[in-house]
Amino acid sequence: MINLPTLTSVDFSGKRVIVRADLDFDPKDQENLRFTTLIPTLDLIKEKNGQIILMGHRGRPGGKFDESLSLKPFESYFQKWNARLLENLRFDPGEESNDVEFAKRLASNGDFYVNEAFGASHRAHASIVGIPKLLPHLAGNRFVEEVENLSKIFEDPKRPVITLISGIKDDKMGYIEKFLEFSDRILIGGRLPEYIYDSSVLHKNSKVLIADLLPDKEDITIHSMEKFESAVVGAGTIVVSGPIGKFEDEGHRQGTKRVLTAVSQVGAFKVAGGGDTTSAIDLLKLSDKFDWISVGGGAMLDFLANHTLPGIEALL
Ligand code: 3PG
Repeated sequence: MINLPTLTSVDFSGKRVIVRADLDFDPKDQENLRFTTLIPTLDLIKEKNGQIILMGHRGRPGGKFDESLSLKPFESYFQKWNARLLENLRFDPGEESNDVEFAKRLASNGDFYVNEAFGASHRAHASIVGIPKLLPHLAGNRFVEEVENLSKIFEDPKRPVITLISGIKDDKMGYIEKFLEFSDRILIGGRLPEYIYDSSVLHKNSKVLIADLLPDKEDITIHSMEKFESAVVGAGTIVVSGPIGKFEDEGHRQGTKRVLTAVSQVGAFKVAGGGDTTSAIDLLKLSDKFDWISVGGGAMLDFLANHTLPGIEALL
């Protein structure tokens, strides 16, 4: 059990409260889960008479200014709370290198630090691990809920646990071995089967089901869709990370639609996470069928693999 310090018993009267938020999304998407789930924490800080200073990152500008990744378009989002929003943290190389002087500069904006950026908490960056060393630190409401809900997957889960790992990012392959520790079955789709060599031990592991891809690699075959649909029946817990195919194209949506629909019909504890996965679930109007949709993509995977994150350790 991770026991995070929460906002509950703190009085912020007359204090400046830094909120590290997850602003890594398209500012036109006002309904983005990363924004809607930030609202209760901002409301609570205001109720407790705190003055809010927001900070976050967008994209990977590589330590340089990039107008297209500015946080300015978000300013109107936060007028309601009369909050000050700092510019994209990753415009400064000190953010990603966790530079002490940069962290001090950021910390000088506040008297308290609140981490409400679960989705960035797998990064040991200045705004995630540097500032909490310098200020009294707390976990935001959503952050606490993410940890509670995702912990259920590895702490005494309802079995069998089925993990669906898909999408196009090859760095996901690095998690499969760890996921085998808590999963009874792993279904691998999206572009990932392309990254598995013929000689890989995964082919011999009876827990692993690797999809066959269509010749254009944009979806899995009908036969693999059927195998995935049957594999989720009777699951106690299901974790979904990544769309099964290129669902953005209607012509390649079938795998994602069929498999996610099959998942949604199972009476399991169902969790999904990641920007593309969330978009696919929204498009298919299945979000209310999931028990938990994480704001974290990489952060969710990292937390499930390691049972902690640099951003969690920094708050303990
Ligand atoms: C995300 O969207 O997953 C987070 O913002 C982290 O982004 P990063 O992979 O660029 O660190």
